[in-house]
Amino acid sequence: MNGRHPVANRGCDVAVNYFKSRDAADRTVAELKALGVRAAAARGNVGREDHVERVFETVRKEFGRLDFLISNAASGPLKPALELGAQEFHDALDMSGRALLTLVQKALPMMPDGGRVVSLTSLGPRRYIQGYAAMASAKSVLEALTRYLAVELAPRGVRVNAVCAGFVDTESLRGFPNFAEMEREGVARTPLGRLATPGDIASVVAWLCSDESAWITGQVVVADGGDVSGSMSVNAGSIELCTTGVVEIRLTVKDNLTFSTNLAESGLVRDGNTWSYVPTHRQGAVVSVVDLSIEGNAGSFALNPEGGCS
Ligand SMILES: NC(=O)c1ccc[n+]([C@@H]2O[C@H](COP(=O)([O-])OP(=O)(O)OC[C@H]3O[C@@H](n4cnc5c(N)ncnc54)[C@H](OP(=O)(O)O)[C@@H]3O)[C@@H](O)[C@H]2O)c1
Repeated sequence: MNGRHPVANRGCDVAVNYFKSRDAADRTVAELKALGVRAAAARGNVGREDHVERVFETVRKEFGRLDFLISNAASGPLKPALELGAQEFHDALDMSGRALLTLVQKALPMMPDGGRVVSLTSLGPRRYIQGYAAMASAKSVLEALTRYLAVELAPRGVRVNAVCAGFVDTESLRGFPNFAEMEREGVARTPLGRLATPGDIASVVAWLCSDESAWITGQVVVADGGDVSGSMSVNAGSIELCTTGVVEIRLTVKDNLTFSTNLAESGLVRDGNTWSYVPTHRQGAVVSVVDLSIEGNAGSFALNPEGGCS
């Protein structure tokens, strides 16, 4: 078995779409052929309808049909939201969000009933990731489309799902300016103790393409190694921490922050500028420590350590 190619390992022929990286696509095709399946590469920008049509023309000529469509491509600027230009934001939405719609629309004529569509999303729509505003917005588009396409394609038995990956050790993650910090924090908050490999995520994609997941459609399946950091939302001057594991929380606040809720009453214990919450009335060992640093002006604070966001 080759962990890099779980779809091919299940016996599928594979068409590989690339845009800029011809050599990498050729290498992937060679690896796939070595596994005994048919494979071909097709160049095209998924943000362009005419390119997508050309890519599918290659697929039709080489393979005659498309059973599984995997929408993996993504690109966008790494910038704070407030610095995003209109055009670059639009382009990111196009290539990393709307592309799913174009791909599905153009693939359907050669997709038999019972086909599957799987796309890749991230934790970005649910939490703040530095510099990730454009991509997070595009992934929100993609997740909404997943739900709508699943309903509209259900009469044909076509299932549509997305895989939400935590941090995956790929070239693009290594391109973040603060990669070292992201890696350290990502590993610390992941009970399985490492970043994901591309193969970890590809296995979930392959499973969603298989009959083993026959009753799953319209879903965003999270594969994040058990990430316990939950989510932090800042809404109308309030901060809510929602945790999903047994976690210990250390909250570092700036001197000048004022909270309408008394932190001590929320069960936090103060040591200088750091407030800690250690679960006491819950079964099970503490599996992780979450460090949160809050800067800015927060009006109130609510802690929901017993799990789950409302
Ligand atoms: N890495 C992570 O931590 C992480 C976490 C959660 C979700 N994801 C998602 O997983 C997917 C793969 O991520 P990755 O880390 O492997 O990213 P990556 O290393 O940047 O690879 C992105 C891929 O998308 C292709 N691509 C980009 N723009 C394209 C376009 N306009 N048309 C066609 N292809 C295009 C690239 O092909 P060319 O090089 O040929 O242009 C490349 O193969 C993405 O959807 C990403 O958002 C990644």
